[in-house]
Amino acid sequence: MSDLNLRPKFHITGGKGWINDPNGLVKFNGEYHVFFQYYLHNVYWGPMHWGHVVSSDLTNWKHLPVALAPDEQDDGCFSGTAVVWKGKLWLMYTSFKENGGGDNVRQLQAVASSEDGVNFTKHGIVIGEKDLPSEYSPCDFRDPKIFIEDDVLYCLVAARKINGRGRILLFSSKDMFNWKFECDVFGSDSGGIMIECPDYNKGLGLLTYCEQFQPAQGSKHLNIHSTFYRLGKLDCKTHKAEFGESEILDYGFDFYAAQIFKDTPVMIGWLNMWDRNIPSEKYGFAGMLTVPRKLEIKDGKLWQTPAVYSTLLYEKAVNGNYKDSIKTGIVKITAENLKAFKLSLRKKNSTSADFCLKNGEWVFDRSHSGEEIKGKEVDADSLAGIRRMPFEKGEKTEIYIVMDEFSVELFVDGKALSSTIYPDADADGFELETEADKCILQRFEV
Ligand code: FRU
Repeated sequence: MSDLNLRPKFHITGGKGWINDPNGLVKFNGEYHVFFQYYLHNVYWGPMHWGHVVSSDLTNWKHLPVALAPDEQDDGCFSGTAVVWKGKLWLMYTSFKENGGGDNVRQLQAVASSEDGVNFTKHGIVIGEKDLPSEYSPCDFRDPKIFIEDDVLYCLVAARKINGRGRILLFSSKDMFNWKFECDVFGSDSGGIMIECPDYNKGLGLLTYCEQFQPAQGSKHLNIHSTFYRLGKLDCKTHKAEFGESEILDYGFDFYAAQIFKDTPVMIGWLNMWDRNIPSEKYGFAGMLTVPRKLEIKDGKLWQTPAVYSTLLYEKAVNGNYKDSIKTGIVKITAENLKAFKLSLRKKNSTSADFCLKNGEWVFDRSHSGEEIKGKEVDADSLAGIRRMPFEKGEKTEIYIVMDEFSVELFVDGKALSSTIYPDADADGFELETEADKCILQRFEV
């Protein structure tokens, strides 16, 4: 039985139609603004608009009119960034021009501005072909992300070397309209065929980016398109980029194109993946965004926790076997000296999504969680519906389980594993088996 009005309770969607990447995460006039890649006329990717929602608490979102739409300048308004500059809200996005396809495609960076944060005026292309050094392709040049340092606007843009792979380029400007090429940040090809959606947060010392079609390295990242992060520092003046190893940003099936709010260490990603079926199509919508995640650096490591506003419903000691009925909201489990953990969620008869500690690692299994989701991945874990995440044994383990109609986002000691699931709407069994010195469950309503 399908209810056509079924929607996530607290995850951002387009309401109807298709959405992908979060765009332009910014705080303006006291409200959080989130834009997103949006095609309202179908449940598939199409000519890209920028959908727009606002919130004062990162939890209750209000839909505003579409901020950017295709027109004679843009066949599509691809992903980009927002920045408050000289009292106005500015968007920089990739202006996509089809031009008959192939080598004639153009992806160039354009700006729009707004006084009220609702209505935007386009000002045309500002980082054009003439600003891009000739060794990079203007067909794959997209996803600008602006930040300000010492009154200078800097912008990272994903690019591809002609006959090469993905690069991250740095540009600078003093006035938003004239941009100067600064450097190719790493000066070497990416593993994937193209980089997408780079973001740099100076306060956290965090660079995030996606790689398209990157072959898996062992079990490190199995999704055909993966989002990574590196901790370190980019000196925009000297062009020195000192970053550690690349790490996976989320271990789940469905996480891509993450972006961090300007001036607020909170990140949102797309809670889906390219090249997969999206069973919610039949409800008239496809695609949603992750819950906002607070980002911290603890002991030199990135630490993510859900940043939605929620209230405590109850708290229980649950060591051993525990059964409950929970469908949406947040469950926090705090365990001392955790030895065993087995959770079945959204359980109904023989269907459930399972999250267990097995042989010293976390294993998430959605193979019998409801409707089938098929991707292009052909490795054993993907075919078995499994994703894994390292377990670091410590005195205390902190687990957040964020459940909404079609998703589960798991956070363990700052690491995240996010996936969509499509169980029956009334599947609400929550069965937990733990072995620990002490185990406390707190249930929160969002
Ligand atoms: C990433 C991406 C971006 C592009 C946008 C188009 O998911 O491919 O590189 O700007 O989606 O919708």
